[in-house]
Parts: sequence; structure tokens; C-alpha cells
Amino acid sequence: EKAGYNHFMQKEIYEQPRAIIDTIRGNYSLENSSVSFPDFNIIKDAVKDLNRIVIVACGTSWHAGLIAKFYIEKFAKMPVEVDIASEFRYRSLVIDEKTLFVAITQSGETADTLSALRVAKKMGAKIMSVCNVVGSSISRESDSVIYTHAGPEIGVASTKAFTTQVISLFMFAMFLGQERKILSRDECGRYLAEVVRLPEVIENVLSKDDLILSLAKQFKDASDFLYLGRNVNFPVALEGALKLKEISYIHAEGYAAGEMKHGPIALIDKTLPVFVLCPKSSVYEKVASNVEEVKTRDGIVIAVVTEGDEGLKDICDYMIEIPDIIEELSVFPTVVATQLFSYHCAHLLGLDVDQPRNLAKSVTVE
Ligand code: F6R
Repeated sequence: EKAGYNHFMQKEIYEQPRAIIDTIRGNYSLENSSVSFPDFNIIKDAVKDLNRIVIVACGTSWHAGLIAKFYIEKFAKMPVEVDIASEFRYRSLVIDEKTLFVAITQSGETADTLSALRVAKKMGAKIMSVCNVVGSSISRESDSVIYTHAGPEIGVASTKAFTTQVISLFMFAMFLGQERKILSRDECGRYLAEVVRLPEVIENVLSKDDLILSLAKQFKDASDFLYLGRNVNFPVALEGALKLKEISYIHAEGYAAGEMKHGPIALIDKTLPVFVLCPKSSVYEKVASNVEEVKTRDGIVIAVVTEGDEGLKDICDYMIEIPDIIEELSVFPTVVATQLFSYHCAHLLGLDVDQPRNLAKSVTVE
């Protein structure tokens, strides 16, 4: 069943190029430079009438929502809020018929997400979900569903469900931009040309597995870890830290790199490994200067950088090189690097990678 892999999690990490292809199949045309969602029940007029998007999810799915906010604001210029499902319901909500509520959930059964959906529906919102399980409670209660075709995810730690959620939301954001006439055909075509490169870009990161394993050997006994990123890679910092915590039980914090000097910088000394997501991007210089701040305080820097990056070579301690891809999609190679690192740490520590203590695959209590 594990097809030669040691664990389901490892198999699922390696399935990501295929899972992404399966998820976006039928949703785009390279000839027409366009995106489509043929099964969409939220009719196009409704898409035009919507003025706000509220995304609700838990855990790793919430991180996918945080990335989606960048996409939707950029491509469709619509205001987006992203909420943790267990926080959402207990506020005075501002929601009406012009709100599109988006639930992101692998299982489709997460209790807090389902309850949040029901509240939003009562208040008149249109309901959409991004879900991996056909026939699940959340998919049944949604007006429209985008199914991620990740296939069954058995490892408790979410990997391929996350990347398929993110690509679905990228395509959805382009769809909204296209329907609202904000994203031009040319732009759409340029982005799609990058989307179809993703499987190969991810394969390239998977081919660095030995390097990442050697880093895990070196750092598996660390008691704490800091993950830093900016912009779309800030949610990846949160996700990298979550994955390390849940399967290797190493304490880790994800932080927006620019926030470091407002507190966590006090933690840095020569024993603290800092995982920095610093691919080529609009915020590259800013993240690079955060790396210098860490090094000035003797922290150990493991940086994920774009191939051929010369700027950080002399500053950081270790580098994981990823292929060049547009900033918006750089989250795919950066997150895969963090997944492999967490996986190897947990495996080397002799832990139950697929069934970490205290965790369940689907959280059906509030
Ligand atoms: C982390 C993880 C959890 C889930 C969360 C939401 O690796 O798997 O944080 O992402 O419990 O689950 P779904 O997406 O099924 O609603």
C-alpha cells in the first residue's frame, strides 16, 4: 500500500506533482488563456455581485486560506478575510448575501468549519468549499464545491491536501479575476504557463531529498526552531513550523520575518536553527536583511533560495536551492522543502510519522 515508501506521509509528499495535475485538469485552456469551473453552481452573475470573501478553515487548511488571500486580492481585487473556524463563530459577524464564504477542508468533516459554514449560510452568504472528500458533510452543505483531487490522504500530517488546496485557490482567484474583467487574457496566459511547470518544479525539490535528509540528521535534536518568511511565504513559515511540531514534537514557531525584531529576536543565539524561506521575490531584499539580523546574533540559518542566488551564499549556513518560479507559486517548492525536513526529523527520531500522538486525521469535535 505504501508502494515502496516507508510511510504514507512520505508517499503523499512524493505524490504531489501528480495530485496537482489531477486537481487542475479540466480547469484551464492554454490555447484560450482562460480558466473555467464547469461544475460551478454559483452562477457568473453572483460572482459579479459578490463584494467580499470570507475564508474559514482550521490548521493546515487555514494556512492555505492565508495564501489564497494574496491570490484573490491580486487577481480579482476583492477584499478577503481569513479566519480560524473556532474563532469565527464567536464574534459579531459582518456577513450578507454579497459575501462569498469559502470553507477549506481536506476531510469535509471538521466540526468547527462545518458549524461556521452553517452560521454564514443562515446569514445569507453564498457557500463554497474546497474539499478533498466527495460526499462529505461540508461538500454536501455547500452551493459549490471545488474538489481537490489529491486522492486519499492517510498520514495525519497534511501534505498533498495542502498543495492541492493552494493550487485550486490559485485557479479560483484567476477565475474570479477573469469574470470580473480584472485579469487580462495575457496575464492569465502568463500565469498558466507557470502553473503547468509546477509538477517539474516540485520534482526538482524532491530530488534534493538527500541534502534535506542530511540537514535533518544535523538538526533533529534541536529543542526549538524558528521559521521565517514574508508575503506568500509567511503562511509557509507557519505551515513549516506546524508540520515540525506535529510529527517530530520539536517546538517550532512560524513568524513573519519582519516581525522578528518585535520580539522573537530575543530567542536567537548560537543554538537556534532558523529556517528562512527566501526565494527570489518582491520582498527578497527584506528577507535577506532579516537573515543578516539572525546571523549577527549567531543564529544558524537554513535558507530556501532560488537556484543561482549569490546574495545569501556567504551569509547563511545551509542552503536548499529551488527552481526559479514566479513569487505567487514559490510556495510550492518552499513548502515541499519544509515537508521533507519535518518528515526526516520525525523518522530519524523514531517517531510514528503517520500517527503522531494526540492527533486525529479528522477533528469532529468543536
Ligand atoms: C495538519 C493537519 C490539520 C488539519 C486540520 C483541518 O497537518 O492535518 O491541521 O489541516 O485539522 O482539517 P481539514 O482540512 O480536514 O478540515
